[in-house]
Amino acid sequence: MRRVKKAIIPAAGLGTRFLPATKAMPKEMLPVVDKPTIQYIVEEAVASGIEDIIIVTGRSKRSIEDHFDINYELEANLRDQRKEHLLKMVEDIAKLADIHYVRQKQALGLGHAVWCARKFIGREPFAVLLGDMIIDSDVPCLKQLLDIYERKQAPVIAVDSVEWSQVSKYGVIDGEPEGERLFKVNRLVEKPATDPPSNMAIIGRYVLEPYIFQILSRLPAGIGGEIQLTDALQQWTSRHPMYAGLIQGKLYDVGDKMGFLKATVELACKDETLREPFRSFLRQAAAEGGETT
Ligand code: UTP
Repeated sequence: MRRVKKAIIPAAGLGTRFLPATKAMPKEMLPVVDKPTIQYIVEEAVASGIEDIIIVTGRSKRSIEDHFDINYELEANLRDQRKEHLLKMVEDIAKLADIHYVRQKQALGLGHAVWCARKFIGREPFAVLLGDMIIDSDVPCLKQLLDIYERKQAPVIAVDSVEWSQVSKYGVIDGEPEGERLFKVNRLVEKPATDPPSNMAIIGRYVLEPYIFQILSRLPAGIGGEIQLTDALQQWTSRHPMYAGLIQGKLYDVGDKMGFLKATVELACKDETLREPFRSFLRQAAAEGGETT
């Protein structure tokens, strides 16, 4: 049985939904409470047993590389000031995992970003975690998928049910239920404008086989003029089995303003040091808002 040890984190998108914040800063570096979004993603991969990570970066993505690197000046300063707790926190980030980088020279779409990492993956099965999707769960979302992969030895994608009114923003699956929280995928559709086959949305975690790179290498641009990973997965499903796991957890699309605000508020409410003062602030703000509206 093949174990999944490598993961790709695409983080080269233009982040147009979050302009102007993302003009010079990648959206994956937007901080949620006290950590950049991409650190949540790297932590999920590591907690799921991933050993090597390749981040696909684009222009103005240097800050991502710097964040996961050693910062000698900062560490020396914290050491001199005996701020041991902060020093450990900063040192630990650079030790999280073996992180590698590849550039996507043009933002041609998620499928193209994944294809850019093909040489790093070689012939092994691998995971993909979108750099702007935080999934808050007891068992890391990727671990939930890897457990399915171990049983089925076939590609698995994570899905979650979304409001029908929101379906056209996502890729969705058409699948047959196969046991608890599991579907055999018949078909995938990217951002269906009409007649969505389900409200089971693809939420940015995948376990895939390297054959997908061959499909991606000859895939024409799809919706939005981008090379879509969903289109490549659709070609895969027409010939090979693929599964979708209905994950247990809460999804935050941090690349979207509402998603980012929800993540900030809800994760701050779960943070030990912020929980009480922040909740009391929210109650007060709601009461004051009530008076003025
Ligand atoms: P999105 O579609 O959410 O990213 O891609 P985007 O294109 O930056 O978003 P908007 O619509 O303009 O706001 C999901 C993930 O795939 C990466 C993004 O960085 C994000 O983490 N991505 C997307 C790439 O790496 N390259 C691309 O060409 C497109």
